[in-house]
Amino acid sequence: MELKNILFEVRNKTAFVTINRPDKLNALNDETVNELKEVFTSIKNNDAISVTILTGSGEKSFVAGADISELNKLNTVSGKTFTEKGQEVFNLIEKLGKPVIAAVNGFALGGGCELALACHIRLASEKAKFGQPEVILGIIPGYGGTQRLTRLINSGRAAEMILTGDMIDANEALRIGLVNKIYSAEELMSKAVELAEKISSRGEIAVRMALRAVVSCDELSESEGQNLESCLFALCCATEDFKEGTLAFLEKRKPNFKNK
Ligand code: COA
Repeated sequence: MELKNILFEVRNKTAFVTINRPDKLNALNDETVNELKEVFTSIKNNDAISVTILTGSGEKSFVAGADISELNKLNTVSGKTFTEKGQEVFNLIEKLGKPVIAAVNGFALGGGCELALACHIRLASEKAKFGQPEVILGIIPGYGGTQRLTRLINSGRAAEMILTGDMIDANEALRIGLVNKIYSAEELMSKAVELAEKISSRGEIAVRMALRAVVSCDELSESEGQNLESCLFALCCATEDFKEGTLAFLEKRKPNFKNK
């Protein structure tokens, strides 16, 4: 896989995906969206990867949105294809089946905010800025932002961000539940790695089942969701890791999970 706009590496069981167009503040051009699809498809199919950390290159930006020089050329037909393609890739991330942590190191605007929203956990540097500035360009969010932001932070707050296009800082993002935690710029990646390693140390099958139940929440009724939870719980009961995890507690030792 030849990548021009993304850096990709795997250390221990963690994949590091870095959008790498710092001179354009990591704006997502079509090529980068294609590469995101390739990279996340390979992560999905790679059993050696448990958790992924997604970030932006340089000190200024996570992702400053879709590439406006490409947006400018869209018409009705290509505009529909453009959003459907982005939505497909961001859905792939959300439904990856493995946790994805966004380490938001700077601007997360437009498609960048939407990309962070497609991740399961968002950590922010104190320099991070979030916004959906599409209305300033005469368009609306098109990579799932109207839906995911509204579900995550409630409709009034989402409407304010989407209708004004205003940016908010990391403290405000924390206050309204858009991010989980804020760290200094220097600490952000090490804290993301710490979190990834903590998750990787848990029973991997259980982590994947739990994530599946959590991600399905928006699409299912309460009773369907509880039924899914119950089925996934029962599946966990069939694993060796479940026996090991419970036995380790009773024997007052650390579990030795085998992902079986
Ligand atoms: N698409 C294409 N290029 C972008 C971009 C985007 N979304 N965001 C930034 N860039 C480019 C700039 O054009 C500039 O390129 P240049 O040096 O070739 O002129 C470079 O990245 C640096 O950006 P600049 O605007 O000079 O940085 P700044 O610190 O003054 O401002 C922002 C930073 C993020 C406030 C500003 O770049 C911005 O508003 N970007 C657009 C954000 C947006 O509307 N995103 C949603 C798109 S749907």
